Parts: sequence; C-alpha cells; structure tokens
Amino acid sequence: MRPFSALFVMATLLFITLYSCERDPVFIGELPGPIDTTGDTTPVVILHPCDPDSVYFEQQVLPILASNCAQSGCHDVQSHEEGVILTSYDKVKSTGGINLSNPSNSKIYKSLNESGEERMPPPPSVALTAEQKALILKWIQQGAQNLTCDGACDTTNVTFSLVVKPLMDLKCVGCHGNNSPGGGIKLTTHAEVKAQADNGKLWGSINHDSGYKAMPYPAGSNKMPQCELDVIRIWIEAGALNN
Ligand code: HEC
Repeated sequence: MRPFSALFVMATLLFITLYSCERDPVFIGELPGPIDTTGDTTPVVILHPCDPDSVYFEQQVLPILASNCAQSGCHDVQSHEEGVILTSYDKVKSTGGINLSNPSNSKIYKSLNESGEERMPPPPSVALTAEQKALILKWIQQGAQNLTCDGACDTTNVTFSLVVKPLMDLKCVGCHGNNSPGGGIKLTTHAEVKAQADNGKLWGSINHDSGYKAMPYPAGSNKMPQCELDVIRIWIEAGALNN
C-alpha cells in the first residue's frame, strides 16, 4: 500500500470512529450528587441536593410571599404598600425590614403575627399557617440567604396528595383559595384542580401557552421550574387522579 492510501484509510477509520462515538448516548450536565433511588423507575439526577436543615428562598419562601403577599394592591412592584415589595429575593432583602441580629423583630415576620387589620395578609385573607411562619423565621435566622436547590422535585411516583396538592398549596392557593379567588378559580381540592386540568387551563396557564393567562401571577413572574411543570403534566396525562 502506498503511503498516501494508508493515510487515507487511517483518516477514514478515524472519521468513522469519531462519528460513531458521537452517536453514542452522551450525558451532559450530570453533576456529582446523590441519586434518588427511592423510586422504582429511572432515577432522577439531583443537581443541587437540598439539605433538609436549610431554608431555600426560591423553592420555599418566595412562593409563600408571591401567592399571599405580592398581589396587585398589596406588595407587588406597582403597589408597594408601605414601600414593601415581596416579588424577588433582592426586593424582599431590601424592603422587607429584615433584622438579622434580631430575626423575630423583622418587619416581614412581625406583621404575620399582628392582630386585626395590621396582620399580614390582612383579613379576610387567611393568616399564614404556623408552619409557613416558622419557615420564614428560620430563613431569617439562617441569614436570609438566597439558597436554591433543584432536588425538591422528583418526577417518579407522582400522586395528587404527595406532589400536586403541595405544589398548589405552596404556589397557587394564596390567590386561588376560598377568598375572592383569582379569575374565580379555586385550587384547594382535588375536584377543583381536576376541573382546571380537564378544561386545559391548568396546563395552558402554567406552560404559558398562548390564549391562557400565564401563571403564577402577576404577568412577568417566572414560569415554574421545568421539573415542577413535568410532574403536573405527568399527573394530568395519567388522568388527573385523586391518588
Ligand atoms: C398572585 C396571585 C396568583 C397566583 C400566585 C396564581 N394565580 Fe392563577 N390567577 C390569578 C388571577 C388574578 C387570575 C385571573 C386573571 C385574569 O383573568 O386576568 C388567575 C387565573 C388563573 C387561571 C385561569 C387561566 C385562564 O387562562 O383563564 C388558572 C388555570 C390559574 N390561574 C392557575 C394558577 C396556578 C396553577 C397557579 C400556581 C402555579 C396560580 N394560578 C397562581 C392569580 C394568581
């Protein structure tokens, strides 16, 4: 074989090797972290594992504030009652009267426990639960940090009671509860959520499909994280069961 053809054959072989490698499955973006092995189907890779003792602002605190306090007329950017805006980490930090040296004296926390009209959210809205209040206090006690984690959501074993209902309670029920619910839509029970799943509005609104009001509200709020959208879609596609 002349040197030129040998080179040509080698180059061809190299090309085929590289090309076929490229067709092998490539796992991109897999970071070291614990693998969830509790489900019996494909394990979900947790990108930033959640520490059960830490409070995560994006996942745990902001949704409570967004759905109970940041409505129009209250603490959204336009209304900013008493200068308090509770729509993002930076705004909560700069306007929420956070007192790191005396956490329970922080304006945002104290207001949750006031009586009468001073209580936030004011009547007829319902007060935050003891659990929600404790979480906000704990967040301040831990330094009011902007921690995020991607591990709280798991697409295996999606049920209404363990996955969909807690998500609705956290992110939607503040505006879609029993008191003047947004758009007249309540999302507190299985039947109520299923009704919106069946008429297409639940998916259309959270997926920001055209023709639907984008949720969470107000317009311009971040879409729910992809994994949360996935679990709701999985639940809807499985028949929106009361499981
Ligand atoms: C801050 C308040 C607020 C939050 C939080 C909120 N909503 Fe809404 N929602 C509204 C209001 C207000 C409307 C009525 C909007 C309109 O008609 O312009 C509405 C309308 C809707 C509609 C009807 C959409 C349509 O196109 O007709 C659905 C479905 C809905 N919300 C689901 C949700 C879900 C699911 C969540 C949680 C992920 C959520 N909402 C969070 C206030 C809120």
